[in-house]
Amino acid sequence: MSESPWVATLEEVKLQEGLPTPINPKGVGLLLIKTDGAIYAVRNRCAHMGCPLEGGKLEGFVLTCPCHDWRFDIRSGAFLDAKELSIGTYRVKRKEGKVLVELPEAAS
Ligand code: FES
Repeated sequence: MSESPWVATLEEVKLQEGLPTPINPKGVGLLLIKTDGAIYAVRNRCAHMGCPLEGGKLEGFVLTCPCHDWRFDIRSGAFLDAKELSIGTYRVKRKEGKVLVELPEAAS
């Protein structure tokens, strides 16, 4: 039987609205982003040359990579200039004040 892919990460109170926060559940580098009351989780690795996306600028649902300004929609992970390219996105849920991320990599 495989382990649940839902992994508990931070307490929600530690997430600041609009401030991408790096986490590393089970060794997978992600960013948690709370905006407009919702929480999103994306891979903390740009689809261009792999720069960490933390420190990138967030405007609405658009996160801009700090290295060469590629822009990604945090809801879908899509690169805005060529939607066939993307960063990974992960489902998020809240439970007892914690933020859980669905991490299929953790189930194997
Ligand atoms: S590594 Fe992100 S835009 Fe180049």
